[in-house]
Amino acid sequence: MILVTGGAGFIGSAFVRVVDNPVVYDALTYSGRLENLQGVPHTFIKGDIRDKEKLEKAIKDYSIDVIVNFAAESHVDRSISDPGAFLVNVEGVVNLLNICRKYKIKLVHVSTDEVYGEMEDSNEDSPLNPSSPYAASKASGDLFIKAYVRTYGVDAIIIRPSNNYGPRQHPEKLIPKTIIRTLLGLEIPIYGDGSQVRDWIYVEDTVKIIKDLMKNGKSGEIYNIPGNTHITNLELVKLIGKIMSKEVKVRFVKDRPGHDRLYSMKSKLKYEVTPLEEGLRKTVEWYVKNEWWWKGLINDKYFELDEPW
Ligand SMILES: NC(=O)c1ccc[n+]([C@@H]2O[C@H](COP(=O)([O-])OP(=O)(O)OC[C@H]3O[C@@H](n4cnc5c(N)ncnc54)[C@H](O)[C@@H]3O)[C@@H](O)[C@H]2O)c1
Repeated sequence: MILVTGGAGFIGSAFVRVVDNPVVYDALTYSGRLENLQGVPHTFIKGDIRDKEKLEKAIKDYSIDVIVNFAAESHVDRSISDPGAFLVNVEGVVNLLNICRKYKIKLVHVSTDEVYGEMEDSNEDSPLNPSSPYAASKASGDLFIKAYVRTYGVDAIIIRPSNNYGPRQHPEKLIPKTIIRTLLGLEIPIYGDGSQVRDWIYVEDTVKIIKDLMKNGKSGEIYNIPGNTHITNLELVKLIGKIMSKEVKVRFVKDRPGHDRLYSMKSKLKYEVTPLEEGLRKTVEWYVKNEWWWKGLINDKYFELDEPW
């Protein structure tokens, strides 16, 4: 049986949609919502990945043999305001590792391309060079996993996707923020000159690859999942406006401290992804149709302010 930690969040809830009736374990922080799992077969347990007793009970009650971990504090801006809160991304992983070691459970851990920092064409063996407190917390979690594989023989893999987009992403993130602010006729704050390059992947592609790696990934291995779709933030915002057939009102604001200019990975895996424009069309359509989902989430400084940190 699969335990999906962080399964009520953006990528986690997309993953729950492609596996068969898993157990979802989620603390329901500001970004985790039961609405994300409406109509999707699963068993839900509200809990923190740092809570050893609750996790152990879930593992015994449901005979768990694999944990797929999406649970994390996931927003770079929030990590700039409150880096200490991101220690959960380390402590939670260490707790999961202890449990996987004790119960001989496989850990499929979802990390990020941000651990490589602004390196061009990073591969799975590239050095970790995180820039933000968020990226540092994810890199630390990854290092603990490597240590547990080597020292205790824990069965674990690390997956590093690039920037994801698609339905049910919190409005604090660039793509939903651009779509929603454009729908509301508001300006889009762009950090710095908007020339930062990101590599985007549609969330439904990511979760299919993670599902495959859950079955076929080799313990101790790292798997990058780039979208191979590089675009600057400014071009991306303009493309969303074109897709929405609306004028996007861009406002250049102070750059994010420590902002990486570029993420760019290579992967040892082979797969096809949804073309950016097609994925963005589906995403726009979803936000247009699901105002009920986002209208309660925009009274938030990470949606409203130019420099929320
Ligand atoms: N979104 C992206 O573009 C992206 C890209 C690469 C990697 N990632 C990684 O993928 C994972 C999922 O990202 P996301 O965008 O879906 O994030 P998200 O913020 O939408 O979801 C995170 C989920 O984790 C839960 N959570 C947080 N702290 C928890 C805790 N202590 N115990 C239990 N549950 C907790 C939240 O309630 C939420 O449901 C994260 O690990 C993130 O670092 C995200």
